Amino acid sequence: MNNQSMRIENVRSDIVGIDTAVPLLDGSKRPYVFLDNAASTPAFKRVLKRIEDFMPWYSGVHRGTGFKSRIATQLYDSAHDVCGRFVGADLDKNIVVFLKNTTECINKLAHRFDFTKDDVVVTTGIEHHSNDLPWRKVAHVVHVGVVNGGHIDLNEMQDILQQFKGRVKLVAVNGASNITGICSPIHDIAELAHGAGARVFVDAAQLVAHRPVNILPDDDPRHIDFLAYSAHKMYAPFGTGVLVGPKNFFAAGEPDTVGGGVAAIVTLDHVEWNPAPHRDEAGSPNVVGGLALAEAICVMNELGMDSVAAHEQHLLEYAMNKLKKISGMVFYGPVDRLDDKVGVITFNMEEMHPGLVGAILGAEGGIGVRNGYFCAQPYAKKLLHVDADKAEDAGCGVVTTDLSTFPGMVRASFGCYSNENDVDAFVEMLEIISRKGYKGTYIQDQDSGAFSAEGFDINYAEYFHPFDSKAESKRQQFSESAWG
Ligand code: ALA
Repeated sequence: MNNQSMRIENVRSDIVGIDTAVPLLDGSKRPYVFLDNAASTPAFKRVLKRIEDFMPWYSGVHRGTGFKSRIATQLYDSAHDVCGRFVGADLDKNIVVFLKNTTECINKLAHRFDFTKDDVVVTTGIEHHSNDLPWRKVAHVVHVGVVNGGHIDLNEMQDILQQFKGRVKLVAVNGASNITGICSPIHDIAELAHGAGARVFVDAAQLVAHRPVNILPDDDPRHIDFLAYSAHKMYAPFGTGVLVGPKNFFAAGEPDTVGGGVAAIVTLDHVEWNPAPHRDEAGSPNVVGGLALAEAICVMNELGMDSVAAHEQHLLEYAMNKLKKISGMVFYGPVDRLDDKVGVITFNMEEMHPGLVGAILGAEGGIGVRNGYFCAQPYAKKLLHVDADKAEDAGCGVVTTDLSTFPGMVRASFGCYSNENDVDAFVEMLEIISRKGYKGTYIQDQDSGAFSAEGFDINYAEYFHPFDSKAESKRQQFSESAWG
């Protein structure tokens, strides 16, 4: 960007694939409207450039003595610091562990806590499975409910902390819901948790790319002890998850995953672990992924997280004002008070399967959204009023090969580069769907529950070249001659 700081007004030009045309059912093409940023964002061009510039210097880190290894190590280690500072971590007292994604970070934390089944983890009923299932494996989990259309019930949380006093080791909450987009009052929750002698973990996967986040100084009662987020939701989809937490926590105890890189001394009957964070990053690390995320953070810092938040807030209001006027829309989450909500809009359309709505948006509008349960089934079922006892009737909670009646919702979500044209295209298609003006005939696959438009046969090889079949057949010949 010619040494000019990136600004929110021109960030769109830094998005890889922003003009990529996709085919529509009527035979035409249009630039893809990417409204699935809560799942994964596209990459910044600056991130790709950074990787390209780095590749001639690529080497494994922490192990080699050569120049390339030294430069790669320096960059990889400093990427950790960038990711910690992004959320306000005091790096004298905290460390950053790089893993694969938020899910892996939470699983690590669950194992590193060394819980007993008597220990209590307080979480909520609105969590992504990743901030619920890992705790269930290692501790007794209690779920706090919600009030006022999706806000964590802090009174109930306080009661639960009192009820399990002395046993609650951790309170684990999301930073923002991946269904309603509502932001959790993470510092209020931290204060409650600390008051009860527990620590607090924030699953910030849906938060950090959309709002400024500051875990606050370690001695502040409102400090966040542990926080995790993913690079693939912040313009650097190269496989890095970030776990931030106290140095002394990670310096103690045994790593959960062991192998290369984690140990300083190994004899046949003795191991001394490396200092943190190396003892928690088993195996050769994802150097490129770490570097990519740090560069994405540099871009986000240039944009300014306040500007990002204000821009996405404007888009959310712009969209909701229009969407509310479409008949048959059923929203999950706030429709009027939007100030504590990130740009996630989850809805259904009356008498339409969410999979059908998603398929029409894709085939006739070139619009990418997500539909289903968003890996948060307990909350999704609650919002859909699927009675737990009757979950089986609704196709929920059972292992089934017929997902055609599995209910769900549709979700559209914004990134910092989304604009009013994206919203307009989305609104226009929903208006068409609402008045049943869509053109295609859609068939549902019984097994997957997914819908597809009749006659919309896509030759994927036209868009992205497949793996080289000649090379594949050479491999085949080789293995036949070697072993046949
Ligand atoms: N957790 C991501 C989502 O909500 C994948 O879509």
